[in-house]
Amino acid sequence: MIMSRTEAAPDHARGDLTERLLAGLPTEAVLTDPDVTASYANDMASFCPAGAPAVVVLPRTVEEVQHVMRTATELRVPVVPQGARTGLSGGANASDGCIVLSLTKMDRILEINPVDRIAVVEPGVINATLSRAVGEHGLYYPPDPSSWEMCTIGGNIGTASGGLCCVKYGVTAEYVLGLEVVLADGRLMTTGRRTAKGVAGYDMTRLFVGSEGSLGIVVRAVLALKPQPPQQLVLAAEFASAAAACDAVCRIMAGGHVPSLLELMDRTTVKAVNDIANMGLPETTEALLLAAFDTPDPTADLAAVGALCEEAGATQVVPADDAAESELLLQARRLSLTALEAVRGVTMIDDVCVPRSRLGDLIEGVERIADKHQLTIGVVAHAGDGNTHPTVCFDAADADESRRARESFDEIMALGLELGGTITGEHGVGVLKKEWLAREIGPVGIEMQRGIKEVFDPLGILNPGKLF
Ligand code: LAC
Ligand code: ZN
Repeated sequence: MIMSRTEAAPDHARGDLTERLLAGLPTEAVLTDPDVTASYANDMASFCPAGAPAVVVLPRTVEEVQHVMRTATELRVPVVPQGARTGLSGGANASDGCIVLSLTKMDRILEINPVDRIAVVEPGVINATLSRAVGEHGLYYPPDPSSWEMCTIGGNIGTASGGLCCVKYGVTAEYVLGLEVVLADGRLMTTGRRTAKGVAGYDMTRLFVGSEGSLGIVVRAVLALKPQPPQQLVLAAEFASAAAACDAVCRIMAGGHVPSLLELMDRTTVKAVNDIANMGLPETTEALLLAAFDTPDPTADLAAVGALCEEAGATQVVPADDAAESELLLQARRLSLTALEAVRGVTMIDDVCVPRSRLGDLIEGVERIADKHQLTIGVVAHAGDGNTHPTVCFDAADADESRRARESFDEIMALGLELGGTITGEHGVGVLKKEWLAREIGPVGIEMQRGIKEVFDPLGILNPGKLF
């Protein structure tokens, strides 16, 4: 098995790990103080198991990354690549004795090309930094995870991130045209293209998107850009039940509308956001739907969608006055998970994506699961994508509550699969959903995926213990 080979790494080889790394990296790029290295142990899935890194490296060049991988291969040391550690599945969690390879210092935007509509970036570029930089050229990089002010493009590629605008613009995978990847043994591989089209050979670029650092280290990415659309305008619709809000989503999508955002927050989430940020969201409603359009005439589009919400039983439909009010509503939405964390201290965030026609069934099932386990489960959803984040709130110090939280978390994934969905729409598998990946893709699927892993990482040193 791939894992056991890494575990069998000879101890004497570990002894001179730091020295070997320093032969190709500047002193300040190699961190060994245990207090410092411990701070790199986790991503944001704080309850997922994490080991103690032997060392953290912060390379600035492709050659330095190659040196790290050559060293790791020679000494058989596991490598855990990391971006900003905003992941939610433990995919960037350290394993014991590993090299944490932080790509955060490789943060240059190398090119923005309005004719080819591409950007070429290093992996440590912050998503919002890129969005603003391309905006200055009248261009748009759509993928916008809630953590966009912190998360890196490399991390976005690793987990195949989504975000709020995906209902219209699609996810990260649709914007990655080509990559430069340092392989496990230090070789440099180029995938894909910088052209508008290209079908030369297997789609290796797509394979890397969502591979969670298990196949190689992305050191450059060619990203597709769109022309910048007009500023979007948001509408908030209140509903007396989550079912009615889901009905509105179905009517909007079946009606052929193309909103730039279609998000749902249930009452628990709305209250949690008000509690931490005083946003003044309506707490008496059971579900709040946010719809937006970035079309030339958003007011007309919002009116049509508002009418559909009313047909589905909306108790109030309130279009934002202007862009500033729209942005405030989005800020409230982006705060959802932070706010839900404050409810009981810790959260376990599901990421189940179902066909949007089954959204109502999923949310109803989540209510049943919450009742059964006597837990608070807030639901925030990219409703237009059928991608939900039922968020189980619990007190990690309470063993029984923690057990019930894990059971509910798992029951929600089982329900998602039953409804024809997937266990993860945008957060990835990490360590949190390993058993569930196997359940979703089956033994043949797992065997083929392990085969691919074996080709790229025969020694099993790349982010071991993740995915499967
Ligand atoms: C969001 C993140 C958790 O939707 O995916 O806010
Ligand atoms: Zn999300």
